[in-house]
Amino acid sequence: MSRPRVFVSRRIPEAGLKRILAATDAEVWPEQLPPASDVLRKKIADCEGLVSLLTDRIDAALLDTAPKLKVVSNFAVGFNNVDVPAATARGICVGNTPGALTDATADLAFALLLAAARRVVESAIDARAGKWKTWEPLGYLGVDLAGRTLGIAGMGRIGYAMAKRAHGGWDMNILYYDEVPNPKAETDLKARRVDFDTLLRESDFLSVHAALTDSSKGMFGAKEFAKMKQTAVFINSARGPLVDQKALVEALKAGTIFAAGVDVTDPEPPDPNDPLLHLPNAVVAPHIASATYTTRDGMAEICADNLIAGITGQPLRAWVNPEVGGRRRR
Ligand code: DGY
Repeated sequence: MSRPRVFVSRRIPEAGLKRILAATDAEVWPEQLPPASDVLRKKIADCEGLVSLLTDRIDAALLDTAPKLKVVSNFAVGFNNVDVPAATARGICVGNTPGALTDATADLAFALLLAAARRVVESAIDARAGKWKTWEPLGYLGVDLAGRTLGIAGMGRIGYAMAKRAHGGWDMNILYYDEVPNPKAETDLKARRVDFDTLLRESDFLSVHAALTDSSKGMFGAKEFAKMKQTAVFINSARGPLVDQKALVEALKAGTIFAAGVDVTDPEPPDPNDPLLHLPNAVVAPHIASATYTTRDGMAEICADNLIAGITGQPLRAWVNPEVGGRRRR
């Protein structure tokens, strides 16, 4: 019997790839850069399954060129690159990889927080450039963490893990802004749910963990940075378009806020001349929050399970659109 055809849009860790290769007739895109959209269209024309990355745009027009497609298994927890309503309308299941990357992402968000607060990257670049002349009483002064207030925008799994680190390790007070209350954060971490304005005004550190949707796009712009403390440190490890990047650059240049640490930008990658990359008070990482061996293995396993379940008519392990239900393609 012939095995179901699938396209895997980039090489993923063996932990998941092995399962995919054993169960399907898979073509794996071998390049470092994503396939162009017309190439992707051709590749999935005959496929029952697709493993996509956050760099692949999966929209209605693309889905219409794949009449046999049963499942899009996104190798990420975020799925803003997939038009989920369009997939649902066509009976196509969509999967993602929640849980596997929670700790790694919170670790990286915290690393950015510390690096930005304590000017680690700026001072290390100076040291490497031979600008370390002596010990200076007024050199590279940063901001303290202990006992300060961390604001979390989006108290889901990752927001909670970030808050837990700050509360447990640095005795920080936790504020959060979310449409949905998180009773566990309120009980375990004494987190206080506040309105967006209060979050902006009272946070010493503000870390973004919201999903990117039409309504959250651009939620941090000039107006929002103006409301923040001049000593505030802004962290974004969620998605670049949640932030108006030009406004962030202006706020950092003008000293409206103290510093920023971001793992995501808009666009990705940024132009090498983008001022954000060159500001001394900005730490920019190239979207590496989930980049640990164990985490990427875990993501690959969930991704493979989702793909195979989608093809064989089983419930997906992490199912973004279970409402597709009985209308799913068989
Ligand atoms: C995700 O999973 O959404 C991250 O951005 C990449 O791991």
